Amino acid sequence: MRPKSSISITFLPKNEIVVVSQEGVNILDIALKAGIEVSNSCGGNGTCGTCLVRVHQGGQNLPPRNEIEMEMALERGFSPNERLCCQLEPVDGLVLELPFEMLK
Ligand code: FES
Repeated sequence: MRPKSSISITFLPKNEIVVVSQEGVNILDIALKAGIEVSNSCGGNGTCGTCLVRVHQGGQNLPPRNEIEMEMALERGFSPNERLCCQLEPVDGLVLELPFEMLK
């Protein structure tokens, strides 16, 4: 049984589930630490767009885009469920698709 304060995130397409117990880290960091391959050409600075994820569940609990993410979303025409995981703090119950993983 996981602690009450822990956060569970599922990464599609492989249904990899990561549970973390601390907040204050972004989803890219969590995925990489768990060994999940997420492209991150800019190292999490919000300038490359390669860490794009599609949010399948839990998006209603995510914070609005920050300034960095908003700029890229407008420039590249992201749909509302497309987010940069390097700019997102985790929330419990997220189901995220890694679109670049699907291309392999
Ligand atoms: S890692 Fe480059 S935008 Fe997220």
